[in-house]
Parts: sequence; structure tokens; C-alpha cells
Amino acid sequence: MKPLLFSIASFVAIAGVSASWTKNINYRSPSEHHPSLGISIRKVVKRNDLQCSWNPATLNFTHGVASGDPYPDSVILWTRVSPTSDNDKSNVTVSGYVQLFDHDNEKFVSISKAPVCVEYKIATDKGLTNVADSGKVFTSSDVDYTVKVEAKKLEPYTTYYYQFNVCDSKNTSPLGRTKTTPNADDDVTKIGIAVYSCANYPFGYFNAYGNTVRKDSVDYVVHLGDYIYEDANGGYGVGQTIGRVPLPDRQIFTLYDYRKRLATYRTDLDLVASHQNFPWIPVWDDHEVADNVYRDGTSRMNNTESTFISDGGVSFDQRKMNAVRAYFEWMPIRQVDMDDNLRIWRSFSIGKLLDLVMLDTRNYDRSITDLYWNTDYVHTISNDASHSLMGSRQENWFYNSLSKSAERGATWRIIGSQIVFSRLNVSAATGNENPLNYDAWDGYQASRNRTLNHLYSNKISNNVFLAGDSHASWVSDLIWLGEKAYDPTTGSGSIGVEFAGSAVTSPCPYDANISLATANNYSYILQSANSELQWQDLYYRGYYELHISGEEVVANYFGMPTIVTRNSWEIPLANFTVKSGENKLQRPVGGGVVESGSLKGGKTVQTNGTVDTGNGTWFVSQEKLEIL
Ligand SMILES: *[C@@H]1O[C@H](CO)[C@@H](O)[C@H](O)[C@H]1NC(C)=O
Ligand SMILES: *[C@@H]1O[C@H](CO)[C@@H](O)[C@H](O)[C@H]1NC(C)=O
Ligand SMILES: *[C@@H]1O[C@H](CO)[C@@H](O)[C@H](O)[C@H]1NC(C)=O
Ligand SMILES: *[C@@H]1O[C@H](CO)[C@@H](O)[C@H](O)[C@H]1NC(C)=O
Ligand SMILES: *[C@@H]1O[C@H](CO)[C@@H](O)[C@H](O)[C@H]1NC(C)=O
Ligand SMILES: *[C@@H]1O[C@H](CO)[C@@H](O)[C@H](O)[C@H]1NC(C)=O
Ligand SMILES: *[C@@H]1O[C@H](CO)[C@@H](O)[C@H](O)[C@H]1NC(C)=O
Ligand SMILES: *[C@@H]1O[C@H](CO)[C@@H](O)[C@H](O)[C@H]1NC(C)=O
Ligand SMILES: *[C@@H]1O[C@H](CO)[C@@H](O)[C@H](O)[C@H]1NC(C)=O
Ligand SMILES: *[C@@H]1O[C@H](CO)[C@@H](O)[C@H](O)[C@H]1NC(C)=O
Repeated sequence: MKPLLFSIASFVAIAGVSASWTKNINYRSPSEHHPSLGISIRKVVKRNDLQCSWNPATLNFTHGVASGDPYPDSVILWTRVSPTSDNDKSNVTVSGYVQLFDHDNEKFVSISKAPVCVEYKIATDKGLTNVADSGKVFTSSDVDYTVKVEAKKLEPYTTYYYQFNVCDSKNTSPLGRTKTTPNADDDVTKIGIAVYSCANYPFGYFNAYGNTVRKDSVDYVVHLGDYIYEDANGGYGVGQTIGRVPLPDRQIFTLYDYRKRLATYRTDLDLVASHQNFPWIPVWDDHEVADNVYRDGTSRMNNTESTFISDGGVSFDQRKMNAVRAYFEWMPIRQVDMDDNLRIWRSFSIGKLLDLVMLDTRNYDRSITDLYWNTDYVHTISNDASHSLMGSRQENWFYNSLSKSAERGATWRIIGSQIVFSRLNVSAATGNENPLNYDAWDGYQASRNRTLNHLYSNKISNNVFLAGDSHASWVSDLIWLGEKAYDPTTGSGSIGVEFAGSAVTSPCPYDANISLATANNYSYILQSANSELQWQDLYYRGYYELHISGEEVVANYFGMPTIVTRNSWEIPLANFTVKSGENKLQRPVGGGVVESGSLKGGKTVQTNGTVDTGNGTWFVSQEKLEIL
């Protein structure tokens, strides 16, 4: 048998010698100042046998490459290089691993003892000759063989190519492409951002992620969360899924479970392509941990012993740390505050054009949310001043970020929120006696009032709120209902706009099998019942692009007619313009015509047609969607 490991004597150029542990940020995750929560590099170094080195041919780049959190001079690069396609169980003792013979020392050693040395390079050309930065780091089973490094010494607003290789070998990762952001004081004429949320693996193919790659239509990807779902296959709506099993096939609790689930999602080819081609700026929503998570629990897990037993024998706090650690290992994001292991709220200054403020409305410090058994109670407290969505530390940072952005003269403030900000009274459509969604900002009215008060009283304008979470599209003027007069026809009184987007694959909230006609009827009812809601669509899964310039923000919504196969078919659903200084959707909203859903004061005109997706010709009509 060919040995997987070489001992030091038989492997001349020991690559590892000059490699770094700490430059692989994942060893410092989730917080280097709280070793009990993260990983002790000292212990890892002791456990790993630096006398041993991998045979490069036995290692695989198992999940492509990714980049994220771009700054003007640096960007995060990610890969995973492993001797096994499975994920690390982190609970396996040394003897639990395959034992291999170390010929020089005449003893068996375990695979998990040898660190993998990985080299990275980032350059301005595809041939990687004009190298801007490079380095060597270790990875090992302790971090599930993930690699996360910060590439530095980069130029602003520049496209780069990057690649990893097993040290001193030709075993390379795929070539990645990324892009830095402009300097805060640079004049940039146009920025394109694709906005995604809610990708549920068993419900369909992630075609939406792949389409912006195929069109090469944006600079950056913003993900508002629900990147994974925690349930077993069929945990949501048995019978409606397409047969892609999200491993492990059970509800996930342990560190292994969360790693394996992330790894399974990362086998979707369109998701892989998006990571490989665009720098991502993601935040989590609830399902990266579990449904309707808040500071102390989830809809199916109270922080009490009885739910530890019914739910995998893991406490809520432990489960949350497992989810958080796996998220940091697998997502190309920075740790903006090493003393604050749960902090992913952060902001990006992108030229003079915009500040992107990414919030965490879920895990950081959210007061109790709607857990289905307590809806009446959460309704009662939804207008209490102390019922906080983000916690005071994040809230203060948020308001300061908005002020600083206005003071520095950035044209736009783009706010990435997981959940819908605007009031949505759904009772006319659902007949529900609790008309609002208390799991959205509607359940935290004091937090919303403080935000609106900050914007209105400081005259901060050009605000664009983004949201996901709801699996439907909602486009609204941003108003302070009951406080500031608003005219839905002209948009006067509004202080910005909200673009909330549909899901990559998660089903329509009104019925996974809803017909286009029924969905549009519901959209009409919802649109009519909420004065500030200018367009609503329930039918289509999809995403939207923002094209941002000094003069305007244009939002283009796209719908995916079918996600049961991998295909590139998409339909432009609606387009909206916001002119700088206007603080409202430009009239006539959406140009007066949309493809689907319901537009206030406008028309919905369905385009019948056939489309060749490269995988069958499809016919779309008002009622039917079929392969010809
Ligand atoms: C690495 O990938 C190749 C090709 O996909 C496969 O043949 C090989 O078995 C993999 N090696 C390991 C150690 O998983
Ligand atoms: C390790 O964790 C996995 C997944 O949770 C579990 O199935 C396995 O039994 C555990 N192994 C040990 C040795 O505890
Ligand atoms: C939706 O349609 C699928 C396949 O046509 C069917 O198996 C499933 O039961 C339907 N679900 C509902 C809720 O009607
Ligand atoms: C959590 O506690 C509430 C109130 O006691 C109870 O109604 C609910 O069923 C519990 N949830 C779980 C998952 O045990
Ligand atoms: C929601 O709308 C219904 C009418 O459909 C109305 O009776 C109710 O007062 C509204 N509730 C809120 C909280 O706006
Ligand atoms: C928020 O503002 C609305 C409109 O002025 C008001 O009705 C509501 O009581 C306020 N709630 C809180 C908690 O400030
Ligand atoms: C849509 O609403 C119209 C008018 O209320 C109604 O006549 C029609 O039957 C509805 N269609 C569906 C598919 O629900
Ligand atoms: C085409 O669709 C079929 C199912 O209709 C699917 O099995 C196949 O993988 C698809 N091919 C491509 C290239 O997407
Ligand atoms: C939206 O804009 C796109 C071009 O980006 C165009 O192809 C499409 O027809 C427009 N859709 C609507 C509904 O106006
Ligand atoms: C679209 O196709 C349907 C049949 O599926 C037909 O009833 C309808 O009139 C067509 N609409 C247009 C605008 O051609």
C-alpha cells in the first residue's frame, strides 16, 4: 500500500516548516480571546505531528474556492483541502482514525495527526504571474480541513484571480475570481450587487445563484441568510421536495452535523460557481442555526433540559455554538471583532457611492420571537420599548453607522436586514387574528421606531433596506406609519425604499404548489391592504440585482420558472428605480407594468412563451408550466 504520509526524512522539502497556523483564520474562530469557545492552537500544534507530511496526491480540494468580505486592499479567500470527502467529526479519538505506518519511526500514526500545508496566490491575471500576495498556511481535521486567509496588499476596485495548491505540489484548487471594493473616497460610477436569501437544498436547484455568473452581471453577492436549512429531508413539506437529500439526513445539532450540511449544500454546482466568481458578503438568518432562532432558543427548542433530551441531547447554547463555528469555518467572512464571537454585523464603505450595513437580527441579542406557541404573548409585547431586535450594542452601532455614512457624504445607505422591515398586515389574505408577522420587524416596533426616528430627525436620506426570509417579493416606500403623513400615489412622506426578495428555492409561504393565478390574487389582496406596499409577488422563486450609481438605484427582479432541474431559465419580473434625493420609488412605480404579482396602480401582463433551457423546451402561461 502506498503510504498516505511521508515522514520527515523521506520527504525532502518539508513544506510545512514555513507555513503558518494563525494565518488560517479558522484556527482563531469563533474568537481567539475566548479559547474555551474556539480552538487552542497550542493544543492543535501539540497533537499534530509536524514530522509527518501528506502525500499531495492523496489530498483533494473537495468544495471549490470562495472569496468574501472585500475591502479596498484585502479580501478573504477560502477553500477546503482534505484526505476525505466526509467532514470531521471532532469527537473521534486518535485511534478512531485510519492508522498508517510511519517508516522512519517504525510506528503507526493516525491521519488526523498530520496537518496539511496549503499555499495561496492572488494575482491580477489568470495565469497568476503578476502576484500581489501569497502565503502558506496549515489546515487540519480540527477545522474540518477548511482554509480561510486574508489576502492583502491589493489595489482598490480591481479584479483578481486566486488559487490554492498543496504546498510544493501541482495539486491545485480551481481558479477563483474576486474583486476588491473601491476606496471610500473614490468616485465610482456604477456598482452591481446580486441579493439572495433562502436556499433550501431538497426543494430545488440553486439556478438563481448560477444565473448571475452566466450573465456576469454584478460585482458582488450579498446573501441575507437561510444559506442552509437545519431540517431532515422532508422536514418542510413532505412530498414537495425534489429528492436531493441534505446530509446528514436528520435535523442537525452537532458540530459534525452543521459541517456536513454546509458541505452538502456546497455541492450544488451553481452555488459553487457563484462562490468561485464573486466575492460574497453574507449574514445568517434563522436556519443557519434553527427555525425562528433568537438569543435563547428556537421554535422547537427551549433552553431547558427537557428539550435537550427531545432534541438530540444538545443544549441550545451548545447547538448555537456548533452552528456558529461551522458557519465561520465554511463562509468566506471576516471576524470583525475577535472579542465578540457572535458578531457578524459589519459594514462596508464602497466608494463615495454607498455604505452597505449588514445587520444580525437573529442570533446576536434578539429578545423572544414568535415560536408559534406564544404568538399572542409576542403580539402583546411587540410594541414594548425593551423588546429588542438586535440588542442595544448593535442598535447603537447601527444608528452611528447611518450617521457616519451621511456625514462622510456617501450617496446611498444600503441596509442588509434578514427580515422584512415594513409593516405587513396580512389578515386580509389569511384571516389571521394576529395580522402581523411578529418574527419580522413588525414584532419589534420600538426597534423600528428608533431606526425611523434616527433617519427622520437627522434628515438621513437615500436609504435602501434589503430583506429576505419571507420567500416572497415585497417592494415598499419606507414610511413611518402613524407618525409621518404618506401619500401612496406620489410617495411623499417616505424616507427611502425597501426591496425584499424571494427565495432561491424555499417554497411560497401560501402553498408550495400554488398556481400563478391564485398567487396573483393573494398578491392583489396584500398590496391593497398595505398602503406603502407598491409591488408584491408570491409565485416566483428568484433573486434581484441592484445597479447603483450616483443618480439612481435600479432594482431588477428575476423569477425562476422551474427549479426541479438545473437550468438557466429566468424571467425578468419587475424593475424599480429610485432617484437620488427622492427617497421613494420613482413614479409610475415599476414603469407601470410587471410580469407577475400585483402592482399598485399598475398592470400585470403575463408573457406567454416557450424557452429552450438547454434541457428541454418549456412553455409558460398563466396557468401552465410544462415541458413540450
Ligand atoms: C480525490 O478526487 C478524485 C477525483 O474526484 C478521486 O478519484 C479520489 O478518490 C479523491 N481522493 C480522496 C482521497 O478522496
Ligand atoms: C461522533 O459524532 C457523530 C455525529 O454526531 C456520532 O454519530 C458518533 O457516534 C460520534 N462518535 C463518537 C465516538 O462519539
Ligand atoms: C404538491 O405537489 C406534489 C407533486 O405534484 C405533491 O406530491 C404534493 O402532495 C403537493 N403538495 C400539496 C401541499 O398539495
Ligand atoms: C417550550 O415551552 C413552552 C412553554 O412552556 C411550551 O409550550 C413549548 O411546547 C416548549 N417547546 C418545546 C419544543 O418543548
Ligand atoms: C389589519 O387589516 C385589517 C383589515 O384587513 C384591519 O381590520 C386591522 O385593524 C389591521 N391590523 C393592523 C395591526 O394594522
Ligand atoms: C412606534 O410608533 C408608532 C407610530 O407613532 C406608535 O403608534 C407606537 O406606539 C410606537 N411604538 C413604540 C414602542 O415606540
Ligand atoms: C382570483 O380572484 C378573482 C376575483 O376575485 C376570482 O374571480 C378568481 O376566481 C380568482 N382566481 C383564483 C385562481 O383564485
Ligand atoms: C435535465 O433534466 C433532467 C430531469 O428532467 C435531469 O435529470 C438532468 O440532470 C437535467 N440535465 C441537466 C444538464 O441539467
Ligand atoms: C426589466 O428590465 C429588463 C432589462 O434589464 C427588461 O428585459 C425587462 O423587460 C424589464 N421588465 C419589466 C417587467 O419591465
Ligand atoms: C397565455 O396562454 C394561455 C393558455 O395557457 C391563454 O389562455 C392566454 O390567453 C395566453 N395569453 C396571452 C397574452 O397570449
